[in-house]
Amino acid sequence: MTALSRAYNIDDLRLAAKRRLPRGIFEYVDRGTEGETSLKDNRAAFERIRFLPRVLGETATRSLGTTLFGKTQLLPMAIAPMSPSGLLWHEGELALARAAAAMGIPYTSPTESMTALERVAGAGGRLWFQLYVWKDRRHALALLDRVDRAGYEALILTVDTATIPNREFNSRNGFAMPIRPSLRAGLDVLRHPRWLFGVLGRYVAQDGLPQTANHPEGYRNAIFAEPPDDATRIAPDTTWDDVREIRRRWKKPLIVKGILRAEDARKAVELGCEGIVVSNHGARNFDSAIASIDALPAIADAVGDRATVLLDSGIRRGSDIAKAVALGAKAVLVGRAALYGLAVGGEAGARHALKLLASELDKTLGFAGCANLGQLDRGLLVKR
Ligand SMILES: Cc1cc2nc3c(=O)[nH]c(=O)nc-3n(C[C@H](O)[C@H](O)[C@H](O)COP(=O)(O)O)c2cc1C
Repeated sequence: MTALSRAYNIDDLRLAAKRRLPRGIFEYVDRGTEGETSLKDNRAAFERIRFLPRVLGETATRSLGTTLFGKTQLLPMAIAPMSPSGLLWHEGELALARAAAAMGIPYTSPTESMTALERVAGAGGRLWFQLYVWKDRRHALALLDRVDRAGYEALILTVDTATIPNREFNSRNGFAMPIRPSLRAGLDVLRHPRWLFGVLGRYVAQDGLPQTANHPEGYRNAIFAEPPDDATRIAPDTTWDDVREIRRRWKKPLIVKGILRAEDARKAVELGCEGIVVSNHGARNFDSAIASIDALPAIADAVGDRATVLLDSGIRRGSDIAKAVALGAKAVLVGRAALYGLAVGGEAGARHALKLLASELDKTLGFAGCANLGQLDRGLLVKR
């Protein structure tokens, strides 16, 4: 039996990923910030919600299909932007994009990808791009033009990173960005030869130490070193004016990610954004932030049908997806769940994670008494 065939759920994949990755990298992916209050609450909030199922409906044939930004797809999911996924698997971004394409869902290529956005575009499938506003706006806007030229169909603008998150364990592991090599981290890597030779070694043999690939020439940083310049760091002074400017230049669907307040969602819609991602960044930024699933109903009510509401943070079961849809999301972004699969088996591993979620979602619909996602509503849920 392979590690993938032994993984019956996302938790199994997580444990297998933990065995395969050096501790510093696993914790960079897996953990939250400060006391990890928000990380625990992202799960607890889903677990507080239960179904009050309907029985004996006509649910023998079920559909998990939905329409996002005018395009139909078989599953209500997209892959969340996550950088640098290429540290988990050699060319992990391409593997994730291919897994998404195989499942017919969008892959979101992050600004800080280790694979250039044009190469990711070559992987095929539906592609979205995640943008951070950089301190030097000229570079950010030039990047936006590249994204457009490469044919990406939607832009996710992440707006919840106003300051550098306090990820204490990263510093302890020598894995605060940029990475500072230490004896402990070195020994950790040596204890994981499959990762050392199968991931890091392959990059080094090809082009030297891995770098972010979307930064302009001369600014490529810097996964293992100090960035050469400040101009392409995330701008702490990003404001609604940036959203306005990006809206003016980007003619395709614009989705704002990292919204937790109804009034911010309303404002994004008023500025012409077509999508909102209700997200606390997987509890990786602000440890006192509300769980996204708790913030969702008020935002869905505020937005109505004026924009598409998506949700992420804490999705580990198909039933979580059903709960999000019942509370007003059209689909979810799959974050760490896909990364655990990627770390264990590359493209096949990420596909395995998505299939597990899809199968659980299908069973949830059956048990809840729904033939399709449109039949999921708040009347099916109770909160403990
Ligand atoms: C390793 C890692 C890297 C991430 N990098 C980014 C990023 O570059 N941009 C971004 O908007 N969100 C980033 N996120 C947040 C995800 O897009 C998403 O909001 C979060 O992972 C959802 O929570 P979940 O992992 O609990 O499902 C990252 C998340 C992880 C786990």
